[in-house]
Amino acid sequence: MSKANYLLIGYGYWGPNVARNINKSKISNLKAVVDLDKNSIKNAKNDNVSESYLDSIEKLNSEIMKEIDVIVVTTPPSSHFKIINKLSKYKKTFLIAKPLCTSAKEVEKIEKLVKKFNLDIFTDETFVYSNKVKAIKKIINSNSFGTLQYISSVRSNLGLIQKDQNVIWDLAPHDLSIVSFVTSLYPISGKAISTNSLSNIKSTDNISYVEFKYKNNLKLFLNVSWVSPEKIRYMVFCGSKQTLVYDDNKKFNSLTLYNQKISYKNNSYSYKSDRGTKIKYQANEPLFDEIDNLSFYIINKIRKPFTTFENSKKNILALANIKYI
Ligand SMILES: NC(=O)c1ccc[n+]([C@@H]2O[C@H](COP(=O)([O-])OP(=O)(O)OC[C@H]3O[C@@H](n4cnc5c(N)ncnc54)[C@H](O)[C@@H]3O)[C@@H](O)[C@H]2O)c1
Repeated sequence: MSKANYLLIGYGYWGPNVARNINKSKISNLKAVVDLDKNSIKNAKNDNVSESYLDSIEKLNSEIMKEIDVIVVTTPPSSHFKIINKLSKYKKTFLIAKPLCTSAKEVEKIEKLVKKFNLDIFTDETFVYSNKVKAIKKIINSNSFGTLQYISSVRSNLGLIQKDQNVIWDLAPHDLSIVSFVTSLYPISGKAISTNSLSNIKSTDNISYVEFKYKNNLKLFLNVSWVSPEKIRYMVFCGSKQTLVYDDNKKFNSLTLYNQKISYKNNSYSYKSDRGTKIKYQANEPLFDEIDNLSFYIINKIRKPFTTFENSKKNILALANIKYI
């Protein structure tokens, strides 16, 4: 069976997860790891994840690159564009960690490279490959759910505070990619209340409340934070007939569907709800399916993954256009 050959750039926190899943897939092979940092390279060698190891992308050449099908970039966001720019000439498929890049200007420049070198670029928007998120898409598009009225989300944890971007750019790509996958919609506008909540420490904004507006009067109310003692990944999809709660932190039963109805009559409100039905799904490791699907696409040229540059760029532009109030 033929395999897709990968080059992985960046072996810090997220890179090892990507390496593990490339090696887990029967149709993927990790040829080389590149990292500027000696310790990261040492870790990669200790993990024995790849055939070769390099300490700079400057050391890549046509000889090495002719063996590569996919370049995965898991370095900090401020380096993503520079790496794409440097390696575009090899005309390989890219898989870039979220957020794809850090500004509208970079989106424009990447777009030019895509056209010039006829590139396929995908973004590692991992949640889109979760079977839980696939189940959400099915439910909210069913007749029994009614019309989607709003989505709310809380995505909080402790750290990691990024020096060159705020918490919205770090965490909101997850929510935006989930929403665009399940609704096929992209934000029209966004506004945020956002701050460094730590008066004693220098930091980019680490708590933010964002409202994204979509077509059909749909809104996403999003709270992201790097200063929460508890990890929270909690989304609510409210339909006119049913409401779906997605708590990704629960090991089992992450999805609960409620028959909830709020009515207003004779100057008073009434509430109807049930105890909720647990929705069944086949648990999966989203990052594995993401890599496996991409390798399948590389080998067979069919079933293009959803998280393309064309789709991701609309969410990046929404981040770039947020009004901070
Ligand atoms: N999908 C997810 O759930 C998820 C989770 C965590 C992080 N991420 C994303 O992954 C990316 C990396 O995050 P991280 O937490 O692993 O960062 P990190 O700082 O832990 O690791 C980055 C690694 O890249 C190396 N590096 C930096 N610049 C380089 C360059 N020019 N060439 C080669 N190596 C270079 C560093 O030495 C380091 O080892 C970010 O874009 C982040 O948003 C995604």
